Amino acid sequence: MRLSVRAVILAGGKGTRLVGIDAKPLAPLLGKKLIDYPLTQVLDFFRSEDVDGSVSVVTGHKSEDVEKYVKESYPNIPISFSLQEKPLGTGDALNSYFTAHCESSSQYDLTLVLCADTPLLTAQNIKALYEKCLEDQVQGALATFVTPNPYGYGRIIRSESGLSIVEEQEADELQRSVKEVNSGLYLFKTDFVVKKLQGLKPRGDKGEYYLTDVIESGDMVKPILSSDEKCFLGVNNLEQLEEAEKELLNRKVCRLRGKGVRFLMSDTVYIEDDVVIGEGSVIYPNTLFFGKTTIGKGCIIEAGAVVRNSLVGDGTVVKSYSYLDEATVFQDVKIGPFAHLRPKTIAENFVKIGNFVEIKKATLCEGSKVSHLSYVGDAEVGERTNIGCGFITCNYDGAQKHFTKIGKDSFVGSDTQMIAPVEIGDRCFVASGSTIGQSMPSGSFAIARSRQITKEGMAKKFIKNKEEL
Ligand code: UD1
Ligand code: CA
Repeated sequence: MRLSVRAVILAGGKGTRLVGIDAKPLAPLLGKKLIDYPLTQVLDFFRSEDVDGSVSVVTGHKSEDVEKYVKESYPNIPISFSLQEKPLGTGDALNSYFTAHCESSSQYDLTLVLCADTPLLTAQNIKALYEKCLEDQVQGALATFVTPNPYGYGRIIRSESGLSIVEEQEADELQRSVKEVNSGLYLFKTDFVVKKLQGLKPRGDKGEYYLTDVIESGDMVKPILSSDEKCFLGVNNLEQLEEAEKELLNRKVCRLRGKGVRFLMSDTVYIEDDVVIGEGSVIYPNTLFFGKTTIGKGCIIEAGAVVRNSLVGDGTVVKSYSYLDEATVFQDVKIGPFAHLRPKTIAENFVKIGNFVEIKKATLCEGSKVSHLSYVGDAEVGERTNIGCGFITCNYDGAQKHFTKIGKDSFVGSDTQMIAPVEIGDRCFVASGSTIGQSMPSGSFAIARSRQITKEGMAKKFIKNKEEL
């Protein structure tokens, strides 16, 4: 038997306890947002179990921002939305979904309810509830877990006739001591939960409707006690956000390790969720990988390197304290230590970018080298061309940026500046210390520095004797 599932993600709460963050579902978490995690696990569950399912999100506080983010992030997945006008509790949030989706909601056999603030739950957790709901008579299932610190969670009160959930605020001392708690993940037969929601009564000073009240002792709602309490961490404050991030990072590292990435001191690295690292690569301590970054196979990324939204090809070595931002690096490239690759840097195969070199919006063609203390911006450096130490493209005239093109197989001596726009041909030779402001045809030599005058014996005029001073 297969049952269809509508997943409803509750994301309407204000998240007042998450100080400094405007919209809780959009709290940043390992390169994504809080809401991305439960959402992707639902989609994974649908895919892996071949379930006929769809997703709906209940928004409230900052609803426009949340809706915009979700729509833009999942353009190919039909996700519907409903607005909870006032944050009147989780029961009211689910009710807003049913009110807005009167017709479509009843087409699904089961309604899965998730909280946007539980980023660690997995498709497996959902599957466990789904399997329970396939059993006859069962009206629903909820995931529970045991925690040494149950503060803030609804306590699971089991009795002979079934179970109920008592929230922190309503619990007496004995109930508070219960360590089995509600995860906030539920799967209900749709007609059951619709009926039960109609009977909800407001609670406390704020008049909130608790979703947990739909489960009363005597109902055929089954608790599924999970042995892994980590999966259900609810993120209500910054400490829990950090805790969730640590766990997601740990999972990320384990996945990469499982695919053959070697880490030296893995607990010091930071790798965002979308980052890909190829087999045989070695990741040194204190490295940070952000955004849509891909590192190829057999790379070495040394300590302190930061790589953001960049592509790094196979066999490349990024030495210590280099910073790559929106850079494209081909294969077998050597970078750093202390190199800065700014947006639109392209380093082709076998390029060498040495220490204290900054590259911006420039293409270094195959085999070219900029080994020491240089700035290359708005430029192209041809194949196999060697740039000496202390080279500068003077690309900015105070108003506009200009382009420098250097051909292939050329040699540019140390301490040279090129005043853009300028074009240097192939197989050119530029003498050290030159300031090049005029283009050079292929095969030419240029020297542009003042002549040296040497006067014998004159040094004493300038060298002051310390005793005289
Ligand atoms: C809730 C459960 C608690 C459970 C815990 C698990 C209730 C009453 N309590 O408590 O039993 O142990 O989750 O983490 O359900 N939301 C809305 N509209 C609202 C209020 C909340 O959409 O009016 C959303 C929030 O955005 C959030 C989720 O519902 O994603 C849970 O709300 P939250 O206030 O965090 O509930 P907890 O106090 O953690
Ligand atoms: Ca919560």
